[in-house]
Amino acid sequence: MEGESRRSPQSHSEGDGRRVSRRRFVKGVAALGAPLFLGKFAAGEETVVSTNQKKLAALGGPRAVPRGLQKGWPLITDEDKAAVMKVLERGVLWGTDAPETAALEKEWAEFIGTKHCIATNGGTAALHMGVAAAGIEPGDEVITCAYSWFASASCIIHHNGIPVFVDIQPRTFNIDPAKIEEKITPKSRAIIPVHLFGLPADMDEISAIAKKHNLIVIEDACQAHGAMYKGKRAGNLADMGTFSLNGTKNLPGGEGGLFNTNSDLYADRAEALRMFGEIEHIPHFRGRGFSEFGWNYRTQEFTAAFTRARIKRLDAENAVRQANAAYLTKHLSGIRGVIPPDVPADRTHVYHMYRIRLDPAALGLSIDPRTFRARVQKALNAEGVPIGGWKGSPIPSHNLFKLKAGYGKGCPWSCPHAGKEIVYREEDYPETLRMLDDSFCMTSALYPPNGLELMKHYVSAFGKVFADMDQLMKVSA
Ligand SMILES: Cc1ncc(COP(=O)(O)O)c(C=O)c1O
Repeated sequence: MEGESRRSPQSHSEGDGRRVSRRRFVKGVAALGAPLFLGKFAAGEETVVSTNQKKLAALGGPRAVPRGLQKGWPLITDEDKAAVMKVLERGVLWGTDAPETAALEKEWAEFIGTKHCIATNGGTAALHMGVAAAGIEPGDEVITCAYSWFASASCIIHHNGIPVFVDIQPRTFNIDPAKIEEKITPKSRAIIPVHLFGLPADMDEISAIAKKHNLIVIEDACQAHGAMYKGKRAGNLADMGTFSLNGTKNLPGGEGGLFNTNSDLYADRAEALRMFGEIEHIPHFRGRGFSEFGWNYRTQEFTAAFTRARIKRLDAENAVRQANAAYLTKHLSGIRGVIPPDVPADRTHVYHMYRIRLDPAALGLSIDPRTFRARVQKALNAEGVPIGGWKGSPIPSHNLFKLKAGYGKGCPWSCPHAGKEIVYREEDYPETLRMLDDSFCMTSALYPPNGLELMKHYVSAFGKVFADMDQLMKVSA
């Protein structure tokens, strides 16, 4: 059975060798009574779905996507290997002034367009450096997005600050600026917007609110390397910007992080936090020694060398993600009930993740979105489309917040410097919950070297799954 679906993506032929035009496909689907709309297919384009392959793979039919086509991430080149070998040959493995680390800081500052870059050992460390540099003190409140990776909030607790969450904007999935001001109190000191999935948040609106209330803004750009907002790079849109270099990221370094700022003061404070609070070597602080609290957030030379090799091709690799995403968006938006991600015209998305929402009501189905999504996800997975959920709940719904289990004894929430008690309830973030119910993500499937040939198979699989709702409803949720 598996062999039946092993067709060249160009051939688009049926088992008997006949090609399937869009018109015939639509006709075939209509004959099945399927609630499918393919209005956005360009003239002359053909789908990969053929009528003799309509049985869903989840129900024992052939897969729409042949096995082994998707290539994993990161793609490691000879240049990457040579960069790391050079470190071994040189024998200098660490140090804040070591050659690879210093060069990485210079090159990433140039790439982002900021005066300073400080390399560190993780995105979480970079975020914590930002929180410390912002001067957050015990009991201070920092606003961040209710949906993100946990570190967007835990970095605040690392410095005894108190996270305050704001719900997402349903089309961009980023923090909703319209809901920020209602969360501001006399204790508020900073905002950490997250450029989630690779799409910059609404930075003009966020910056205006921050200015009005005298708040410092730290970008969590850990998923948005290279993304642009109104002509500037994410990471250079606020007081400070932070990036992760973990192996899954668009700019992978294994493990590592980058901190960017145009401010000498924030750079000095972040530098001190990176190095045990030892600030004697920083001219601005000279003579005060270990007079600040600090950690060891230094990076090392292998990460720096590997990352440097990859900065050179970051834009080109993001362009492949964008072309893949554009193809998917063009075709999936033609399928009723499927809502591809939105990209406002004033910014670019670098598709660390491609999140798709589903609308069963648009298909005339009265089924709860969570069950529908689970069915579609299972059906697509069986067809060979790598769909997943990523984080399945809002950050404030985790026990750390619900039980206030931070450092024990209720700290930092019970700190005498804290303001009015904050209660964390997941039902306070309805847009996040709705999104989690009705959407799922594709990640490295869109990354190079994967290209349009693979995307065609994915579109074909979506077409197959959405062609016959009666069949789909037989897939267990
Ligand atoms: C949005 C976001 N913030 C922060 C982090 C933390 O980065 P790291 O894992 O490098 O500490 C990540 C990465 O996992 C992330 O995706």
